[in-house]
Parts: sequence; structure tokens; C-alpha cells
Amino acid sequence: MSLIDKSGVNAAELFSAATRAAADILASSTGVEALEHLADTACRIVGARYAAIGVANADGTALDEFVVSGMTDDAKRLIPDKPKGIGVLGILIHRQSPLRLDSISEHPSSVGFPPNHPPMTSFLGVPLCHGGICLGSLYLTDKLGGFSEEDEVLIDALRLQLCVGIRNLQMLRRQQALSQRLITAQEEERKATAADLHDSLTQLVFAAQAHLDSYRARTAALPDSDLDLAIKYLRDAGVECRTLIKRMRVLELEDLGFVAAIGQLIDEEQARAGWDRTNFTTNVHDEDLHAMLAASIYRLVQEALNNIRKHAKATAVDSSVEQVVENGRSSVKLTILDNGTGFDVHAVNQSFEHIGLQSMRERTQLFGGTFRIESERGNGTIIRIRLFPDCIPTTLGNSG
Ligand SMILES: Nc1ncnc2c1ncn2[C@@H]1O[C@H](COP(=O)(O)OP(=O)(O)OP(=O)(O)O)[C@@H](O)[C@H]1O
Ligand SMILES: [Mg+2]
Repeated sequence: MSLIDKSGVNAAELFSAATRAAADILASSTGVEALEHLADTACRIVGARYAAIGVANADGTALDEFVVSGMTDDAKRLIPDKPKGIGVLGILIHRQSPLRLDSISEHPSSVGFPPNHPPMTSFLGVPLCHGGICLGSLYLTDKLGGFSEEDEVLIDALRLQLCVGIRNLQMLRRQQALSQRLITAQEEERKATAADLHDSLTQLVFAAQAHLDSYRARTAALPDSDLDLAIKYLRDAGVECRTLIKRMRVLELEDLGFVAAIGQLIDEEQARAGWDRTNFTTNVHDEDLHAMLAASIYRLVQEALNNIRKHAKATAVDSSVEQVVENGRSSVKLTILDNGTGFDVHAVNQSFEHIGLQSMRERTQLFGGTFRIESERGNGTIIRIRLFPDCIPTTLGNSG
């Protein structure tokens, strides 16, 4: 009989934990949920009171993330800082084998617990390494009678899932950091191009137009339809330049404020697309929104309206931006609905040709948010986005 069998843990429970971990990893946009569930499972199968998973940073020297099982959210909130990987937790980062202790605070490396931390005694720490790289560690504490070798064997059965869960979180974090840098670079590039366009091409177009206008005024008596047409083209080019600059720089946000800027964006798109009806509702006041959040919502609405104009053949577009507080956490809900052709969301998601929706999704993830599309052929499309102001990325440019 194997140690797993002897421990009384149902092999089916381990199997279902492994399956659930895979499903969590596929479904999660942050990777945290998968680790939370794995920590819960680890806790349950060995009979520990608490479990935590530490995710190592890129060079494996400290902890970047710490996921806990066994504590209420309120209890977690009372502990000021997440562990960074010093004391006994730090040892695990440099160890290859598990560490079992009867009392964590008696270990010579123990640095004690932070304020409001529940007391913990027995300890089992398991390094989670793969391919010679430390990905993180699993910590289990407070088992009646202490931890045993059997517990180590049980946890070993989950080790690969734990490693995959950590790797997934690390990759999602890296991807998020990359998207953040790309979006910042894109906004900076747009700003620079808009400035160049304003200073060079637009000035030349307006100068040429002014020159020809004045020439035309002096030769008004002589009919010249070719010249008149050229002047009209130049005027159109000037208007197009201004539109491009405005679209790139989101000047309205700076000049008009968020609510009026979104209203103007919708009006302009309606004029271009010829929609019969648009409706925009919001409970947001300009001063409520962080500039970065406002700029991101503006870009999201801009791309969604662009898509409706280009693809939907809609006659009506409804949008709303709503600030809500649920369970003490504030979020902004953005909804954009059209009554157009609809499309096969699954097929589009599988394709790598389109970047509009993908960039919307990535922008949403920067705010820890969710992005959902419901669409049916012939029945229009609805996009529901939720953004969390408390997740505002620290390095995203303020330019919009
Ligand atoms: N509101 C909509 N109504 C109908 N089809 C839509 C709508 N939004 C998106 N689509 C479909 O989804 C596809 C993907 O949109 P996405 O914005 O990702 O790319 P795109 O608009 O084709 O190109 P770009 O990368 O320039 O944005 C579109 O080509 C279109 O077929
Ligand atoms: Mg698009």
C-alpha cells in the first residue's frame, strides 16, 4: 500500500484537484485563483489549518506574490504587508528539499510574525523548483500533531500542478508588464506623431490653402473650376489632418473633460457612420475618474465605436459608463451595445489577424478588469467591460 493510500486521502481528490488546477489556469486572467484553489486543496489533503504559496521573482531571490488559504479576507487585510521572503520563508527559496518544523518560531532564522498575524506553530515548507529554477514555495502550518513524511508525499503529488500554476501566474504577469509597456509606447508614439503632424504637414496644408484662397480672391472674376476643386481638396486635407491629430492625442479629454469628450466622440462617430440613434448615459463626474482610467475608457469606446462603424451596419448604438461600489470595492462598468450584424466571437478570438479587440482586452487587464462580448449573427453585439480603479498600473503614461 502506498503512502498516499495509507494517508486515507482519496486519490480521486488529488485527481480532481489536478483537473481543477488545469481548468483554473485556462480560465484565469490573473493566475491567482488557480493558486488559491491549489493552496486550499493542499490545506485540505494534509489537514493543515493554513496554507500559502509564495511566487518567486524573476531571479528567484524574493517573493513577488503570496497567496493564502485558511484566512478570511478581513483577517488578510489586517496584516499590513505580504511576506517578501525573509526569515524561514526565505530559506525555502534556497532549499531543494522540504523543511518540517514542530514550531516555526523556534527556527534560528525565524524573524517572528508581523502585527495582526495569527500565531502559527507546526510548519511544512516545500520548495517548488523546476529545471533548476526556483519558482516559489508552498507553506503549510498548524496541523494537529505536526506534519509527517506522509504529508510530504501527498504534497509531492500536487507539486507539478503547483509549479504550472506559479509559472502561469508569472507568465501572465510578464505578459501584463509587456502590454503595459506597449500601450505606453503606443500612446507616446501617437502623441509624438500628432505633434509632428501638427507642426509640419498641417501647417503646410493650411499655408497652401491660405495662399490659394488669396490668389483665388484676386482672380475671382476668372472662372477656374480646376483651381476651385484643388482648393476644396486642400480644405478637406486640412480637416482630415485636424481629425487625425485629435484622434491621436485625445485632446477632448484635456479640453472638455471625460463626460463631454465621450459624448463628442459618439457624436462624431455617429456623423461618420450615419447611425439613426445613439444614447450615452453615465453617473460619472469628470473629477471622479483618474486621468489614466479616463484615457483608457476613451480608447476603449473609440475602438468599440470604430468596430461598429466598420463592421456592424448598425442603426443604433447605446453606451454607458457607470461607477459602482460592490463589497466595498469601486469599479467602472463600460457597456457598448449595437443592433448590427453581430459576429462569431469564438472564431474571431481564435484568429490572430485582428488586433482591435485584443488590444481592448489587454487594456482591460491592466486595470485588473474583465472583458466580455456577447454577439449573435443578426442580433447585434454587446461589450461589457469592468475596470478597477485600485489596479491603475503605475507605469502607464498619463497621456491617454
Ligand atoms: N460591433 C461589431 N459588429 C460586428 N462585427 C464586429 C464588431 N466588432 C468586431 N467585429 C468583428 O470582429 C472582428 C475583429 O475586430 P477587431 O477590432 O479585433 O479587428 P478589426 O476591426 O478587423 O481590425 P483592427 O485590428 O484594425 O481593429 C472584425 O473584423 C469584425 O468581423
Ligand atoms: Mg477593430
